[in-house]
Amino acid sequence: MKQDLLGLKGMSADNIKNILDTAKTMKLILAQPNKKTPHLQGRTVVNLFYENSTRTRMSFELAAKYMSANAANITASGSSVQKGETLIDTAKTLNAMGTDILVMRHSMSGAPNVIAPLVSASVINAGDGMNEHPTQALLDMLTMYEHLGSFESFNGLKVAIIGDAYHSRVVRSNIYGLNTMGADVHVAGPATLMPQQIEELGVTVTSDVDSAIKDADVVMGLRIQLERQKKGLFPSVREYHRFFGINEDRLALAKKGALLMHPGPVNRGVELSSSVIDGEQSVIDEQVTSGVAIRMAVMYLLSRGGLN
Ligand code: NCD
Repeated sequence: MKQDLLGLKGMSADNIKNILDTAKTMKLILAQPNKKTPHLQGRTVVNLFYENSTRTRMSFELAAKYMSANAANITASGSSVQKGETLIDTAKTLNAMGTDILVMRHSMSGAPNVIAPLVSASVINAGDGMNEHPTQALLDMLTMYEHLGSFESFNGLKVAIIGDAYHSRVVRSNIYGLNTMGADVHVAGPATLMPQQIEELGVTVTSDVDSAIKDADVVMGLRIQLERQKKGLFPSVREYHRFFGINEDRLALAKKGALLMHPGPVNRGVELSSSVIDGEQSVIDEQVTSGVAIRMAVMYLLSRGGLN
């Protein structure tokens, strides 16, 4: 039976730990001058992206190439999607070409869940609308794990996630994954950018950013998703930064040495000030490296039926 990675909802702590430990090993390969392993030799990985991406798409492509797979990319703008081909027909076409792993990003929540049962390829969700972005949360957790040094340290870890939670698939996957690992997740931002009933996912919700950041071990900013803001949910980016942006003063409320994270791309001076992005506590570049390692680990485990 093929395996898919559609989300972290329902994934067990043991499965998460296995992915993180595998990714840690993959990091050793990334640190070598010769980044080539035979793990996916002869396999074909296709990236099907209906939305823009720098980090996610490139890291899937590089991860596939580092493990000797055939890697190819297709974007909606350069494909027959422009001629009106449906997502299902496009995915089936790519599957018929011998795709073993289909990495998908789509603006519709649930799109990969529709495709997965229709193709023989393993489907990896690289972000579906406002739903989930599992490999992002896994790479965030890998970055934390490497700083914490143990899985036990996730117990009670205070993680403050600040920003546009409403439009964020990153926040949902992080909530599922971090809760499973035992962390204490706080979500803060303007009330208009908080999804209804988000507290039902088991998090503390507030519009008081300072109280969320206070004594946090990890502070994670979320991008204001300007492309998804059709109805002006906050007055201006300048005002947003003043009331909700993470700057040095706010970050100082967190625990000493707290990690500053952001999935990228960052709107500099909006959700984070430049001084904290480039400051000592920022692990944003480490997150990017973790992203390649996580994608290697996920594809390696999927190809062996060992993901879940
Ligand atoms: C995120 C996404 O696309 O959901 N980016 C990413 O994958 N690194 C977050 C975002 O776009 O804000």
